[in-house]
Amino acid sequence: MLTIALPKGRIAEDTLKIFEKIFKKPFIFDDRKLILHVDDFKFLLVRSQDVPAYVLHQAADVGVVGLDVLEEQESNLTRLLDLGVGKCRVCIGVPKNRKLDLSLPEIKIATKMENITRKYFSSKAIPVNIIKLYGSIELAPLVGLSDAIVDLVETGSTMKQNGLEIAETISYSSAHLVCNKNSFMVKKEEILALYANIKRIIY
Ligand code: PRP
Repeated sequence: MLTIALPKGRIAEDTLKIFEKIFKKPFIFDDRKLILHVDDFKFLLVRSQDVPAYVLHQAADVGVVGLDVLEEQESNLTRLLDLGVGKCRVCIGVPKNRKLDLSLPEIKIATKMENITRKYFSSKAIPVNIIKLYGSIELAPLVGLSDAIVDLVETGSTMKQNGLEIAETISYSSAHLVCNKNSFMVKKEEILALYANIKRIIY
């Protein structure tokens, strides 16, 4: 029996489609239920940012999660496969017509992704003041909370609708299959069979 943590949110739909093709049945979590049994597998529906915790603590053997979340959390998980869905970028966004002024004594950045932001700016030796937010990041520079943002960009429409533009792309992300290191030793055959099935669907 394998337990698999699937993410809610932006990569949920494409991820569920992959599993529906493998198991040839609809993946519907009824009545706000968070656990779904399909054949010999147990699926958990969790917040994307929580997938690494479930897999790290072995509440799930395997999980699907965005590379951006993995890089932000630096969890000690085995990365098995890039699913090629849920593609997006981690970008610096600034209000249009207002260039990112790197000569400021300190740049104020609003973001959900503190670690990615800190690493990026420290690699460039640019002093940064990070304001941690949990959502609607695009609002921050519009009301003077920050000079710029570091956020996910998929279609680009949220930035555009809020008068922001991409100043730089920090990294690229997509959904990845990850697994717990201990599960990989104990349930290697089952995990590799799942890996092969997913690979067959996506390539
Ligand atoms: C993400 C991200 C941007 C938006 C980008 O937010 O933080 O706000 O999606 O997508 P786009 O380029 O296709 O417009 P999310 O929907 O996860 O909600 P949030 O406000 O909770 O961050």
